[in-house]
Amino acid sequence: MISQKILGIEKANVGEIDELVSRIADEIGRRMLERTSQGRNLVLGLATGSTPIPLYAELVRRHREKGLSFQNVVTFNLDEYEGLSPEHPKSYHSFMQEHLFNQVDIQPKNTFLPLGTYEKPFDEARSYEEKIKAHGGIDLQILGIGRDGHIGFNEPGSSNRTRTRRVILANETREDAAPAFGGIQNVPTHAMTMGVGTILEARRIILMAWGAGKREIVAEAMSGDVSADVPATFLQDRLNTAWYLDGAAAGD
Ligand code: GLP
Repeated sequence: MISQKILGIEKANVGEIDELVSRIADEIGRRMLERTSQGRNLVLGLATGSTPIPLYAELVRRHREKGLSFQNVVTFNLDEYEGLSPEHPKSYHSFMQEHLFNQVDIQPKNTFLPLGTYEKPFDEARSYEEKIKAHGGIDLQILGIGRDGHIGFNEPGSSNRTRTRRVILANETREDAAPAFGGIQNVPTHAMTMGVGTILEARRIILMAWGAGKREIVAEAMSGDVSADVPATFLQDRLNTAWYLDGAAAGD
């Protein structure tokens, strides 16, 4: 179903990833139905990057083939690059349209991402936090992990009390994004991201990591000292977090 080409992940076992995303999609589907039966919305926190692409592909497949409906789903994305308009082909807005929103029956008014073209970052950040609150908080947050242990764009140094804010991107993060932007000189230097504190308030968190390239940072995130040096370590204290790893990312 999902080709290695789409993933572009070194040594990832595609069959294994399909199985894992199918389990995550089961949980999301179950929660969607539960909320529908209560006449309420499900609030999903969404991530970008290559990691969640197979999950979105599976959700789209279930929408098309099994009638999974997103009518009662509200989404909040983690982050957006500074300076990129929603229409910019490399914006996370465009990413979400392409991989999920355009392909399911979600109501456009229910999809939220931080704006990258803010004039007043503080106002944008505050209004994003207020919107999350107004929708009752995030029920289920999907996460990937950066090679430096970032979640969202919370780079090393981000404490567990950080809220949505403007951040400087780490060099490693910009290097990883360079191929997609046709060179590091084109990668934005800043972004707007939900904070670690914002993420930790989600009622349920699912972090996914695929491929050998994530093995080292996953080990550190799961068993290293809890510290802002590796923001993903803050998830260790959250018993509502599930770590979905393929064999290559899990290692020993
Ligand atoms: C970006 C995103 C993160 C994501 C990370 C990893 O920095 N802001 O949310 O987890 O990339 O990307 P990938 O999934 O492509 O490895």
